[in-house]
Amino acid sequence: MDIRTEFTDLLGEIEDEMRVVLGERDGHARPLYEMLAYHLGIDKREGPRGKRIRPLLGLLVYQALTDDYRTALPGAAAVELGHNFSLVHDDIEDGDVERRHRPTLWAIWGVPLAINAGDALFALSRLALYRLLEGEKVSADRVLSLMRIYDETCLALCEGQFLDISFERRTDISLAEYNEMIGKKTAALLGASAQAGAILATDDQETIDAFQRFGYDMGLAFQMADDVKGTFWSAEESGKATAGDVRKRKKTLPVVWAFENAADEDRERLRKIYAPRIRATDGAFAPDVDPLLGDAEVAEVIAILERSGARDHAEGEARRCRDRALETVAGLPIAPERRAELASLIGTSIAV
Ligand code: IPE
Ligand code: IPE
Ligand code: MG
Ligand code: MG
Repeated sequence: MDIRTEFTDLLGEIEDEMRVVLGERDGHARPLYEMLAYHLGIDKREGPRGKRIRPLLGLLVYQALTDDYRTALPGAAAVELGHNFSLVHDDIEDGDVERRHRPTLWAIWGVPLAINAGDALFALSRLALYRLLEGEKVSADRVLSLMRIYDETCLALCEGQFLDISFERRTDISLAEYNEMIGKKTAALLGASAQAGAILATDDQETIDAFQRFGYDMGLAFQMADDVKGTFWSAEESGKATAGDVRKRKKTLPVVWAFENAADEDRERLRKIYAPRIRATDGAFAPDVDPLLGDAEVAEVIAILERSGARDHAEGEARRCRDRALETVAGLPIAPERRAELASLIGTSIAV
């Protein structure tokens, strides 16, 4: 079953909560909120929108521990707005003109307005968190501790993006560096979403830590699966440019693995194709970017990745992290039907 059908009620309430956060604003800057609604996919009732994995994760964890989810809705909206702030900026950083089968914000409105829209989503995500105080069920101390976790997570995300982008110019990335990069750019936020759901529900540190680990492992698996998507899936399947990650010289898991494990001749060829042409400057002139790989080079890279077993390896690693997340959840003291919901969220969001 797909996420949309299984969690329809929760998804509707997450979107309503986001609409409240966006909708209270008025004045001549109103078109800014229309840009945000477009990016979030809440400009229309139907149509392309994100899968809402992070807010669902937070709500399902909270519900698993309390049997209620409504109290946690502001936290869910916050994490989805925060995720989308990172995507608006990520699409500029990655030069991507398509996401979720639609043009990206910067592709429509240009880079300056898109940077500003991402900043607005960041501020709104923090404002969404304060709404936890309005329900009177959550203490100010708890909100403060969530704020700290949230800010730390955004900083980790910026570190992850720093690593991801600077790796584009390197061909010597180790698997340890790759794991740190995806841990920060993606797993940190999924880990924090699950952790936040638990913090709102319990003071038991062991339970909170277990949920954090669960979300983190799910995040690692999720990013590895996304690497496979950005390398091998067609644009129709992924909603993003075909082989976009290869074109941009992204050091995704299949590529990092092939650099270490492909046959000698293939490794040599990869090194040649991926060799950076432009170095960072000393500040005397604007740093340039390396040209994208051309179609012939992209096809060659994909052939090398397929025949060296890099795709199989990446899918296997994604499954390993996913299974570790499932094992963590199997050991938690929650009702079997709640466990099944969390397992189902993992199953439907990680396609490997
Ligand atoms: C995309 O995340 C960015 C990654 C961390 C891979 P999602 O695939 O969760 O994005 P949406 O919100 O569902 O489109
Ligand atoms: C995902 O980055 C992580 C963040 C947005 C911080 P990617 O660049 O790998 O994700 P997609 O493929 O654009 O969704
Ligand atoms: Mg990207
Ligand atoms: Mg990126």
